[in-house]
Amino acid sequence: MPLNLTITLAASAPKGAAVGIGVLASAAGPKLPTGLTVSAQVLKGRGFDGKLGQVLAIPGKSATQVLVGLGTSIELSAESFRVAAAALARACTSEAVLATDLIDAAPAKLDRAAVAQAVTEGLLLATYSFTSYKSKPNVRPLTSVVLTSRGGRIVAAGVARGHLVAEAVALNRDLVNEPAMTLTPTHFAELASTIGAASGIDVEVWDENDIVRERLGGLHGVSLGSDQPPRFVKMTYNPPAASRGKGKVPTLALVGKGITFDSGGLSLKPNDGMLTMKCDMSGAGAVLGVMSVLSRLAPECRVIGYLCITENMPGPKAFKLLDVLTARNGKTVEIYNTDAEGRLVLMDGLSLAVEDKADAIIDLATLTGAQIVALGNDMCALLSNNPAWRTQVLDAAERAGEDMWHLPLYKKYRKHLDSPIADLKNIGLPMQAGTIVAGLFLEEFVDGKPWIHLDIAGPAFTQADDGIVTRGGTGYAVRTLIETVRTFSIPK
Ligand code: BES
Ligand code: MN
Ligand code: ZN
Repeated sequence: MPLNLTITLAASAPKGAAVGIGVLASAAGPKLPTGLTVSAQVLKGRGFDGKLGQVLAIPGKSATQVLVGLGTSIELSAESFRVAAAALARACTSEAVLATDLIDAAPAKLDRAAVAQAVTEGLLLATYSFTSYKSKPNVRPLTSVVLTSRGGRIVAAGVARGHLVAEAVALNRDLVNEPAMTLTPTHFAELASTIGAASGIDVEVWDENDIVRERLGGLHGVSLGSDQPPRFVKMTYNPPAASRGKGKVPTLALVGKGITFDSGGLSLKPNDGMLTMKCDMSGAGAVLGVMSVLSRLAPECRVIGYLCITENMPGPKAFKLLDVLTARNGKTVEIYNTDAEGRLVLMDGLSLAVEDKADAIIDLATLTGAQIVALGNDMCALLSNNPAWRTQVLDAAERAGEDMWHLPLYKKYRKHLDSPIADLKNIGLPMQAGTIVAGLFLEEFVDGKPWIHLDIAGPAFTQADDGIVTRGGTGYAVRTLIETVRTFSIPK
């Protein structure tokens, strides 16, 4: 779906536009900007105290003023501006044009480009909507936002980056929101090819024969229960020659779980557990989202995306309990639950990332319900075998405004995965550190390379519109990945 807002930079607000005004909170109450048409008394009476994301619309003769809280100045970060911009856009329920100088409300200690980027992302993502299947889509009146800023080139660059990020996030949301009936593995791979061709990215697609020939035993095994054939997609972005310099080009691998529908397979999920499982490709969707904007972002590292795409279904040819699958790297896995399928497709993707000599690897997957039990829906779990790499990505996540929490790859639990006849079982013990054990499983396929596993089961999908997220796919982790790619250095 195209994004619904046009954002432009201008020196002043167009006549008649609603005016968005950022307001800081303080112990003494909201800090009122000059030019307001109402008094502090009125604001107090309406319960407006400048708390982050709070909004208050004040109708006026010539134009509506929309106040938005920024929180206190001590807590102010680029993320505050992302939240405030989203709230502003949502508050415009009857205005077509909004003008705001929000960017220039940022204090000098904040990176002006990052603030401009955050404002752009907040506006565009809060107004995203997926309407492909509505005969009469609800249209928001707000169509245009004018950012009035004196920030010049730096602000323009931030706004441009915000556009790219929002576009990548929206692509992921579209893919997740598309029913599994239409987003089949074949269709997903075709989209990857089309997007790659349109954006100057090399794309290689393996069909089921290639997958068997290339010994992707996990992806193949999981696909057996479906009449939809699997696909494996490798996408490569090479930096422009000019920025390559003399030395070797750092290479970052992004590996995404792309289960277009997870029924659980023979270990079938109950209805409620299955209900949201069209979202089980959001890891691969995030990778495709990122790849789609790389040529325009033009980072200086090589980025290789690996999309492990299949349905997990209980058809007559389905893989069975105590079957043994052999991964691309030769390790064997005995199946104790066909619903622990994500790790089986990722093990092949990770093996290939290692073969391609990636300097660092990130995989992302809606991998375990246990992640939601541990951390809920608003943050993901991050597991890593390399502290420097972990810090690099956690810092990027913080700048991108996505919350991630580090869990340990606790070696003592590796024995939960011991199998009597194969190298590994595909699950650990019931109710015991499921997210960590899944991480330990994946670690078997990274050969000690700097690696991060993001378990995004909770934050990938949401039931309600809230701030910058919209019901359905959220596009979670795309922002962090783009920020990581943009600033990547080989971890020590
Ligand atoms: N795709 C699910 C995990 C999931 C659950 C994602 C809820 C988003 C929301 C995954 O394939 C799965 O089924 N995991 C099992 C693993 C278990 C059998 C070890 C789980 O978490 O129950
Ligand atoms: Mn599953
Ligand atoms: Zn799954």
